[in-house]
Amino acid sequence: MNVPLLNVSGATRRFGGLVAVNEVSFEIGPGQVCGLIGPNGAGKSTMFDLITGVRPLSSGSIHFMGRDVTQEPAHSRSPMGMSRTFQIVRLFPGMSVLENVLMGFQPKFPDGVIRSLFGIGRLGGQERDARQRAYEILDFVGLADRAGDRIDELTLGQLRLVDIGRAMAASPRFLMLDEPAAGLNDAETNNLAEMLARLKADGLSMLLVEHDIDFIMNACDKIVVMDRGTKIADDIPARVRTNDAVIAAYIGKRAHDAQH
Ligand SMILES: Nc1ncnc2c1ncn2[C@@H]1O[C@H](COP(=O)(O)OP(=O)(O)OP(=O)(O)O)[C@@H](O)[C@H]1O
Ligand SMILES: [Mg+2]
Repeated sequence: MNVPLLNVSGATRRFGGLVAVNEVSFEIGPGQVCGLIGPNGAGKSTMFDLITGVRPLSSGSIHFMGRDVTQEPAHSRSPMGMSRTFQIVRLFPGMSVLENVLMGFQPKFPDGVIRSLFGIGRLGGQERDARQRAYEILDFVGLADRAGDRIDELTLGQLRLVDIGRAMAASPRFLMLDEPAAGLNDAETNNLAEMLARLKADGLSMLLVEHDIDFIMNACDKIVVMDRGTKIADDIPARVRTNDAVIAAYIGKRAHDAQH
């Protein structure tokens, strides 16, 4: 079997006495789009933090492209091709849309060898190259006409697209999006779904956390479901939809919320 792009094995993260992620294992193959769902507080964002190295694991391991990255800090994982957005958009206020996307470029591109062979990477050229690529990305996310605007002038939906653009600027092999459709209207959500489908067609692997179940069901090859830190399902969308443990977790959560 091919080496999985991502292998999470027995991942555990404690916050004091709380086990936010409890012995979770799953794999994502090259080119696969995997969903990560579960009720509020299930441990999804913490899982993101463990994969990207924002937080260390309490125990377990993370392998990326066959390499054990468990002990690697976040700044050395991103040049390997991991890129993410945050549940709360983190952009640079006061800067333009274009400048924010430019912030996502890695100092050293993953395809740096090819670039230097062709002499593209020389001083000056590299920055021009980055700006051109940033415009291409803005075109891709549908914000080319807003390139010069300050991000303070954008809607939340547009900010999420800028954040995805910033994440794409790093030329990732693996893109992780934490609730990309949150706060988006129907048209923006459809636009996002189309964008992700194009990225998938290009061979990009992704991990998507999202509460919009229909969005996840349509976008993903497989779905991992967490509840209170534990993995309760790991299957293709059609089977996750009818999984008893998944239905119970969501219905239980709704019943709980109704009481409070
Ligand atoms: N820094 C922290 N310190 C203490 N507890 C934390 C911390 N971050 C998360 N937790 C707790 O860990 C659990 C999992 O939180 P996490 O944010 O990963 O859930 P989530 O599935 O992303 O939820 P949501 O759908 O609401 O975004 C929750 O009980 C949360 O309160
Ligand atoms: Mg979260």
